[in-house]
Amino acid sequence: MKAVAILVAAGRGERMGADRPKAFLDLAGQPLVLRAARAFEAAPSVEGIVAVVPEAEVEGASALLQPVAGLLAVVPGGARRQDSVLEGLKQVPSGFDGVVLVHDAARPLVDTPLIECVVRGAGEVGAALPVLPLVDTVKRVENDTVVETLDRRELAAAQTPQGFRLEVLASAYEAAIRDRVTVTDEAMAVERAGGRVKAVPGSPGNRKITTPEDLAWAEGMVRGAVPA
Ligand code: CTP
Ligand code: MG
Repeated sequence: MKAVAILVAAGRGERMGADRPKAFLDLAGQPLVLRAARAFEAAPSVEGIVAVVPEAEVEGASALLQPVAGLLAVVPGGARRQDSVLEGLKQVPSGFDGVVLVHDAARPLVDTPLIECVVRGAGEVGAALPVLPLVDTVKRVENDTVVETLDRRELAAAQTPQGFRLEVLASAYEAAIRDRVTVTDEAMAVERAGGRVKAVPGSPGNRKITTPEDLAWAEGMVRGAVPA
């Protein structure tokens, strides 16, 4: 099964609080978005990569990512994540009949086994995403009052890449746009359209870089100082 990866890097990174969009921050000598692109370049099933970046970064990102084999396009994103994904989807070659992977550029330490596992799952079922079990007890809280304890065994944290057969994602997105619904990830669009999404094991090393603490953790990982 062949795959095209859409790297979403068009967010502002407000929780990081840096003076540049998060995906362009340095991680041990390479920007996050370049590290993420290199991870997909290395995965055998991935034959094309699309990067979706802030409007002001299109030129710089095109130069930065130009050496990445299989780079198809670098395009500006939109206000919401789903708007950015849609811009990326427009760049998938027409007639492509493999798996589309959508990946957060903010997860630069994704590896080949995880990518290939998602591609296989999506190829078989139509949609797949990596999940991690929750370790903490989870409460529903309203204002400052605990309302309920949820059963942790029924819950999981979703990672990316999320993988879909192209027609599955395209039709789920059409329905979300038609219904004017905001989805927080791509799988949510497929879930609400009634499609099955396979959960495959995620990886602790595939952590999303959200805050300066996450970036410091990732520096340690890359430099070999901190175990996964
Ligand atoms: N993203 C995007 N377009 C948007 C919003 C998010 O391409 N309109 C991307 C981000 O660049 C990131 C991924 O989606 O790679 C996951 O989002 P998140 O971690 O929330 O990143 P940001 O939105 O940039 O960060 P923050 O929410 O702290 O502003
Ligand atoms: Mg965000």
